Amino acid sequence: MQTDLRNRDLIGDLDFSKEEVETVLDVAFDLKRKRALGELHPYLRDKVLAMLFFFSSTRTRGSFEAGMAQLGGHAAFIESKTTQIAHGDTETEMGEIFGRYFDGIAIRHVTWGTGNRYLNLVAKASRTPVLNMQCDIYHPFQCLADLMTIMEKKGRDLRRRKVVVSWAYASSYLKPISVPQSLVLQLPRFGMDVVLAHPPEFKLMPEIMAQAEEQARKYKTGFEVISDADGMTAAVKDADVVYAKSWGPLLITDDQTEGKRIQDQYKHWITDARLMSLAKDDAVYMHPLPADRDIEVTSEVMDGPNSVVFDQAENRLHAQKAVMALTMRS
Ligand code: CP
Repeated sequence: MQTDLRNRDLIGDLDFSKEEVETVLDVAFDLKRKRALGELHPYLRDKVLAMLFFFSSTRTRGSFEAGMAQLGGHAAFIESKTTQIAHGDTETEMGEIFGRYFDGIAIRHVTWGTGNRYLNLVAKASRTPVLNMQCDIYHPFQCLADLMTIMEKKGRDLRRRKVVVSWAYASSYLKPISVPQSLVLQLPRFGMDVVLAHPPEFKLMPEIMAQAEEQARKYKTGFEVISDADGMTAAVKDADVVYAKSWGPLLITDDQTEGKRIQDQYKHWITDARLMSLAKDDAVYMHPLPADRDIEVTSEVMDGPNSVVFDQAENRLHAQKAVMALTMRS
């Protein structure tokens, strides 16, 4: 067990080794048990986390803020537009200054081509850990919560479990690509056979795909890509986990109008009861939320017995507390 994660950043999913992720999961399950029993666990008394948001959030803000309070510390919610960033505070200045005020700096910055670079520049200048609350490339805390949820539903030995990570149609906006990218990087390390399905225009970043394939080779798991106009149906057959969500055609365009025109060709990529009937009887349906209800997924599936979306949302709290306790402790 690797236990010394003090002062480490978590920006990309592979920043922590598999053994370190196992430590995070052990701590997360313990913290979940402690909270269920009402056992206090103030591992971060008097510590303060900066939460710098460049994009809206429900779950991420709520779970980081509640998590810091439950650990005996405090989280400061800072919206970028209320700061002087637009007037010239650079990434280096933010890292230097916030690193001196705060015991950790959590950042959400999902702007395509900008977010991940921003986090890395702040981290380079900060003396305290930088935690990625979602960037344009990765959503590592969502992925840790998802991994925890899959373990709760399918057991800790996940070898030969088939997980389908599928694109789904949404009409609201071009959603970030970070959730599927984090999943294909992390899940092979825990033995799962991943099938990635998307229409041809919705490819993931080539460097992420190369790393995902490398992880699958290293951990001897299956990794299949189905990239055609009807791939969702073929992918889901006999799945243990159906993780279907939308993302934008960002490798082609991040223009909302052009992206929507491309997306609108694939309105039939919806998770409904017919699709779920192709998976195993006890398959779970996963989505990080927010979902476009009855567009991305039917309410029947999302509110149905196979859906674990609220457990996923809850596990954000426990997984994040584990990482904060391990990285921000004295
Ligand atoms: N899943 C997730 O990150 O939710 P929010 O965007 O509401 O934080």
